[in-house]
Amino acid sequence: MIEMSPGKLSPVLAILAVVLFRQSVHSQLQIGFYKYKCSLVEFIVKEEVTKALIRDRGLAAGLLRMHFHDCFVRGCDASILLDSTPSSTAEKDSFANNPSLRGYEVIDNAKARLEAVCKGVVSCADIVAFAARDSIEITGGPVYNVPAGRRDGRTSLASEITGNLPPPTFIVNQLTQLFANKGFTQEEMVTLSGGHTIGRSHCTSFSNRLYNFSGTLMQDPSLDPRYTAMLKQKCPQGGTNPNVVVPMTSTPNITDAGYYVDILANRGLFTSDHTLLTSPATAYQVAQNARNPMQWRAKFAAAMVKMGQLEVLTGTAGEIRANCRVTNS
Ligand code: HEM
Ligand SMILES: *[C@@H]1O[C@H](CO)[C@@H](O)[C@H](O)[C@H]1NC(C)=O
Ligand SMILES: *[C@@H]1O[C@H](CO)[C@@H](O)[C@H](O)[C@H]1NC(C)=O
Repeated sequence: MIEMSPGKLSPVLAILAVVLFRQSVHSQLQIGFYKYKCSLVEFIVKEEVTKALIRDRGLAAGLLRMHFHDCFVRGCDASILLDSTPSSTAEKDSFANNPSLRGYEVIDNAKARLEAVCKGVVSCADIVAFAARDSIEITGGPVYNVPAGRRDGRTSLASEITGNLPPPTFIVNQLTQLFANKGFTQEEMVTLSGGHTIGRSHCTSFSNRLYNFSGTLMQDPSLDPRYTAMLKQKCPQGGTNPNVVVPMTSTPNITDAGYYVDILANRGLFTSDHTLLTSPATAYQVAQNARNPMQWRAKFAAAMVKMGQLEVLTGTAGEIRANCRVTNS
């Protein structure tokens, strides 16, 4: 017979409690969550993303950014997809998302097909997570499994953007703090910033660097002068066309480590990109990622999975929306 004194029992129980707690945290979402509920989910989403990207390759960036903006505001609950109502302005209509965020129709199309085959089963939040993963894969980035089982939230407020999404003027300490608030290390912040290896930006997100940097009426001295000249040509001072965009990198449709190579060459588009060179630890990460793309790919995949678990609704929390743009009545 085994006897345990209380003094011996409590550490055992403590370890057991920690193990069980960690398991429950990690098993909130599951790979293959829809296997028996709607087995074709991931196939259907991927087919819709593929179709959309054939028409417009740039939507890959839109869908990646959509997942980021969803998860950092109220967790990955598809709050980014809800339309504004007469009494409330939704996230998608905040300055950070309107008019720049794109790809909503891709999610709508996937949702319509899923409702036709498995009515009321697949959350919009999971569709966004799958679509971001597929976008990364189709553009040549890492392939990874997406734990699923997220449920959809019922609230979306433009007023919650500030403080949760970083503006492009943030410097390294501010980025580190904001990502730390979401449970990310500084290294993960640098890794996730690599999302800027695809896509484009409107002139307004960086024009301060071209014409009036920190109120100096001069260009940002840290930006490569040839790159600055090219940007000024595309984004003239006082330009009135709000639709002008420039590519993030020289290969804006390929998920590679080119973003980090650009930063090292002082061609990071935003202050928030360039600033990664201004602290020794983040500059080291940038150099590592530029030199070792395979390592960045693995870290990026892991960080995306982690991002996809932010404050998720599971079990009976939230709902499965019938239409991703509105809550169920
Ligand atoms: C680190 C802090 C970040 C800041 C300050 C930031 C800011 C921005 C800004 C200002 C734009 C341009 C919007 C426009 O004018 O069109 C943008 C685009 C984009 N961001 Fe970020 N972002 C950050 C992190 C991330 C992360 C973590 C991801 C994903 C993992 C991401 C993915 C993207 C993508 C893919 C685009 C291009 C969107 C498109 O082409 O439609 N960003 N970001
Ligand atoms: C990237 O894709 C967009 C959208 O299809 C296209 O307009 C652009 O020319 C592509 N850029 C490059 C460098 O291939
Ligand atoms: C330049 O920026 C400063 C402060 O950021 C601002 O007060 C000033 O009006 C700007 N000047 C122009 C010409 O935009």
